[in-house]
Amino acid sequence: MNYLKNILVTGGAGFIGSHVIRLLVKKYPDYRIVNFDALTYAGNLSNLSDIEKMNNYVFVHGNILEADHISAVFNDYDITDIIHLAAESHVDRSITDPLAFLKTNIIGTVNLMQAARKAWEKDYSKHMFYHVSTDEVYGSLGPEGYFYEDTAYDPQSPYSASKASSDHFVRAYANTYGLQTKISNCSNNYGPNQFPEKLIPLMLNNIRHSKNLPVYGDGTNIRDWLFVIDHASAIDVIFHKGRVNETYNIGGNNELQNIALVHILCDLMDQKMGKPQGSSRELITFVKDRPGHDHRYAIDNTKLTTELGWSPSVTVVEGMKKTIDWYWDNEEWLSDITSGSYMDYYKRQYSLN
Ligand code: NAD
Ligand code: TYD
Repeated sequence: MNYLKNILVTGGAGFIGSHVIRLLVKKYPDYRIVNFDALTYAGNLSNLSDIEKMNNYVFVHGNILEADHISAVFNDYDITDIIHLAAESHVDRSITDPLAFLKTNIIGTVNLMQAARKAWEKDYSKHMFYHVSTDEVYGSLGPEGYFYEDTAYDPQSPYSASKASSDHFVRAYANTYGLQTKISNCSNNYGPNQFPEKLIPLMLNNIRHSKNLPVYGDGTNIRDWLFVIDHASAIDVIFHKGRVNETYNIGGNNELQNIALVHILCDLMDQKMGKPQGSSRELITFVKDRPGHDHRYAIDNTKLTTELGWSPSVTVVEGMKKTIDWYWDNEEWLSDITSGSYMDYYKRQYSLN
């Protein structure tokens, strides 16, 4: 079959990538979606078990640090577009191993654009390189203000510095070589399939098993929560309708202090488990703060909502309920992960024996 587009999605076995792939494979039967993923600790093909047999879906096990393999995939599948999500994505890991972030997030991104140049340079106008980035490139906010698309970059962690650098390279390739690009910078995602080292799945797993809930510092740091399925729909809209070489911020308009969020999770889980209200809150333990912990992130998404008509489909409480239900019903998914090397990481990070 001749596909209308052959889209290379990198990092498609991860949290956000798997939702993006599910949306594209189901919504666009005339596109072929090629999932290119190294299956690091964060990649999990079972995230896609419901669509893996669909004709317009292909999985290729590969690393974006291997330039020759990327070029071969361009040839094998006649890649027309890229949606690039593969990354090292956890701030705490970037503090202990910054070089891994530099390699995957910066060099890996440049490798992909080099392959794209080689394959597409005869006519860039038919092709798109869509780069998925983070609001963390803008740094940390005080109590007032928002991140806009033209907010100056001020990354504060090795993770955000590597993502900021990759964004700069994407703009440089558009400016220097004429590659057509789009960048989106989104706020903290939550929802099904998130690896349980991130705040929400970690808390849900610990609440369920009556383990301590480690809140960094005093818990007053603020994040702006975006439901992952809404993020995938925003990527779809920007990919198809966004202006070329533009940046769009994606946020859920859901700012919450970490401690307030943990309280919501505890209370919803108490209801779910039939426990007296307040029981799970007793598990909250304030632990040593993350070094250089960004205080507040908050996105202004006016450009996306007014220009492209996108809006989030759920409120934060609706999204949290859906998320809790998913983790509750998919205990096996979680227990497969919370064994082996994940537990070693967990013990190291939280100084457990
Ligand atoms: P994730 O850690 O869940 O998944 C990353 C995926 O990339 C995994 O499947 C992993 O196997 C793959 N990968 C890692 N290194 C690779 C390599 N060298 N070659 C090929 N594949 C590799 O991440 P996520 O939360 O789904 O994030 C996806 C993207 O969205 C990232 O670029 C991240 O920076 C960005 N982002 C995430 C959030 C969030 O809240 N999760 C917020 C803003 C931006
Ligand atoms: P995280 O999910 O790691 O995302 P990010 O650092 O990219 O924002 O953390 C979200 C917030 O929750 C952040 O302020 C750090 C905090 N946090 C805790 O308080 N305890 C934890 O165990 C974790 C993992 C995070």
